[in-house]
Amino acid sequence: RASSGAAFALGGLGLFRRCTSRCCRDLSARPALPMQPARDATESPTSWPDLRAASALSALSFASLVAACLVLASAAGWDVQALVQSELRGYSWDCSVVDAVAVLLLACLVSSVAICAQPAVAVAAGSSAAIAALVKLICLGQAWRRGDSLAAAAVVLVGCVFCVLAGAEAIAAGRRLSRRLVVVRGEASRSDKLLDAEAGGRPPREVTFGRLLGLARPELPLLATATVALFFSSAAQMAMPGLVGHMVGGVIGGAAGEASDAKRRALNGAVLQLACVFVAGGFFSFVRGYLFTLAGERVVARLRRRLFSALVRQEVSFFDANTTGELMNRLASDTTVIQSAVTVNVSMGLRFGAQVVLGLVLIFAESWKLSLLMLAVVPAIVAVGVVYGRFMKRFSKRYQAALVRAADVAQECFSGIRTVRSFANEPREADRYDGAVDESFGLGRKKALAYGAFGSLIGTTGQFAVVGVLWYGGALVIAGEMSLGTLTSFLLYTVVIAGCLGGLSDLFGSLMNALGASSRVFALLDASPARPLAEGLRPERVRGQLHLSDVSFSYPARPEALVLDGVSLRIEPGSVVALCGPSGSGKSTVIGLLERWYEPTRGSITLDGVPLASIDGSWWRKQVALVAQEPVLFACSIRDNIAYGKPAAADDEVRAAASTANAEAFVDAFPRGFDTMVGERGVQLSGGQKQRIAIARALLVDPKVLLLDEATSALDSESEFVVQEAIDRLMASRTTVVIAHRLSTIRDASLICVVSKGRIVERGTHQELMAATGLYKQLTARQALGPGGGGGSGAGREAR
Ligand SMILES: Nc1ncnc2c1ncn2[C@@H]1O[C@H](COP(=O)(O)OP(=O)(O)O)[C@@H](O)[C@H]1O
Ligand SMILES: [Mg+2]
Repeated sequence: RASSGAAFALGGLGLFRRCTSRCCRDLSARPALPMQPARDATESPTSWPDLRAASALSALSFASLVAACLVLASAAGWDVQALVQSELRGYSWDCSVVDAVAVLLLACLVSSVAICAQPAVAVAAGSSAAIAALVKLICLGQAWRRGDSLAAAAVVLVGCVFCVLAGAEAIAAGRRLSRRLVVVRGEASRSDKLLDAEAGGRPPREVTFGRLLGLARPELPLLATATVALFFSSAAQMAMPGLVGHMVGGVIGGAAGEASDAKRRALNGAVLQLACVFVAGGFFSFVRGYLFTLAGERVVARLRRRLFSALVRQEVSFFDANTTGELMNRLASDTTVIQSAVTVNVSMGLRFGAQVVLGLVLIFAESWKLSLLMLAVVPAIVAVGVVYGRFMKRFSKRYQAALVRAADVAQECFSGIRTVRSFANEPREADRYDGAVDESFGLGRKKALAYGAFGSLIGTTGQFAVVGVLWYGGALVIAGEMSLGTLTSFLLYTVVIAGCLGGLSDLFGSLMNALGASSRVFALLDASPARPLAEGLRPERVRGQLHLSDVSFSYPARPEALVLDGVSLRIEPGSVVALCGPSGSGKSTVIGLLERWYEPTRGSITLDGVPLASIDGSWWRKQVALVAQEPVLFACSIRDNIAYGKPAAADDEVRAAASTANAEAFVDAFPRGFDTMVGERGVQLSGGQKQRIAIARALLVDPKVLLLDEATSALDSESEFVVQEAIDRLMASRTTVVIAHRLSTIRDASLICVVSKGRIVERGTHQELMAATGLYKQLTARQALGPGGGGGSGAGREAR
């Protein structure tokens, strides 16, 4: 008996050692968890979630090992109670078994916390464990002298060995962790840098459980109310097994001699009680479910609003680097993943946790032996949960990234559907989307596999607990140590507790999932633009003199390519400056700098002598209007599109602007006039119509500075004529920078600059440039000779 007991205990010990060391190693080997910032090496690592998980796991495995040993010993016929008491009497300490177990549990909790704290604490814990082992050895000697049973000695001896090993384990774990921390800190700061680069050079804040849950902070009142309801509904649920047990044992199977009438009455009473509990439970679970879901919706709505306003404030270069599909996905999908994690999961976690605690208290009150047996399955559940959680976190990042790629493909295809159609490339686009979806599907399949395996493992483990309880409890009932009713309620409690533990591990998985999905969301939230949109000077009067001095520029997305190289240009108030030159020479880039979408890499731009960089960007953009080659309209009515820059404009103003822009006639011809919807990006209008709406939009703003980027070059000569007429009215008495593809349209400009390879290579009036023999003369000659547009439009202008 002694040897088999020792073998059992040693086996359990080995399991425990494996469990703790594996869990410490695995958990701490996980790279780039949501770590605290690695700013300061003296920072305590105890707040790290994986350390918490490690401590919980080791505590649980220790506790269940002890429990399993005790139960196995008592199943093998030993009087465990007497053994434990005799051991404790060795300390001349008279206490009950429950106290002893409590002390043991406390001890293992302390040692697990020690494992996760600083190495110094671990060492302290290890040495105190060693001292405890020594004391035990002395007690053992005393027990031996008193002639206690050999079995007691064996168990106590094993306990001593175990204590020593636990101490050593604590030290080793502490060391391992502290070594890992250094590495993980390195990794964390490395990944910070990566995110840094993505977020445009600003360090993102770390994503922790705390930060994730912090999103729900404004909903605290709601959540608190919901939690109260949750406790009531859980209590109702937990009362159920007891009541059913009472019914089965006390009422239905009660004293055989009782009159069946009395029994029926008792049964009715019990059923009524049960029904009342169910109704109350139903009400409270309604309140709980409603409030938690409401809080979740509010959290996600707030998160979306914050994220959107953070995104829309980003610099233009941010949108060069991030695809629309990606940003859309962050807004739609990532936020949804976070939503449930911070509210519903908290609710479920609290509920499950409360039910587990309550259930444990209740079953311990019913039968401590059976409870210990049941607890033996806990480490298995927790271990599986931890592995699953790690997996989910890693996968959720990859899964969300795959979703982004698929969304990108779809978004690109739909917004370019005309191009796709005209190249008859629908099958290819479908294939491309297939490929992208396949990727997310492949990851989803793995997730599904993990989810299924996890669910069934947890379920089976729980059922094993039930089997164990039935086996041992059945034996107790047969031996007359336990009533049938107690066993019934115990069984039901076991089912509830096992279900809750399974649910808790499940929640852990989805929390990890949310943590994976949230890192990018938080990075975007934290990525504040280098220049706030509206900050700086707001000059009272704008004359409109612009001066570019020695401006060089390369796009942030392609820093190695110098797009503008030392451009100097003075634009006098009210003058018209034209830029021309080969495509790709950097003309539109000058416009982008004047709009302050980008800041020059070198050199400066001044407005009336004031550096543009010191002027409030939002204010400045209200003084400028841009009419681009392909105007972008919004999917709303023509009136709203014209009034986009001045939403308060009266109908008369809108009509006047449309009339000046040569748009009134065609708008009135639509059945719904100014209320006509234009479709996404204005697809329901012709190019010339769109352009005239865009000119009316610019007119309504009455800008000081007008920027025209090949405003007519996409039009046929008929509509070019009406659009050019509108533009000429728009240009009157404003500082204007005009880029023209057709040189005939810029003849009258006060200054013409020829741009080539990012430099201004010629400047002067049309006459001056024609007199010289340079690029301008070549370009004009080419256009005059060319058969198509240039000559035609020139003729159009002349005919006017
Ligand atoms: N957003 C951008 N990111 C990176 N490079 C760009 C971007 N926009 C334009 N470029 C590059 O800058 C150069 C000048 O472009 P642009 O100013 O549009 O020429 P254009 O004179 O035809 O208007 C081109 O080589 C182009 O590839
Ligand atoms: Mg251009």
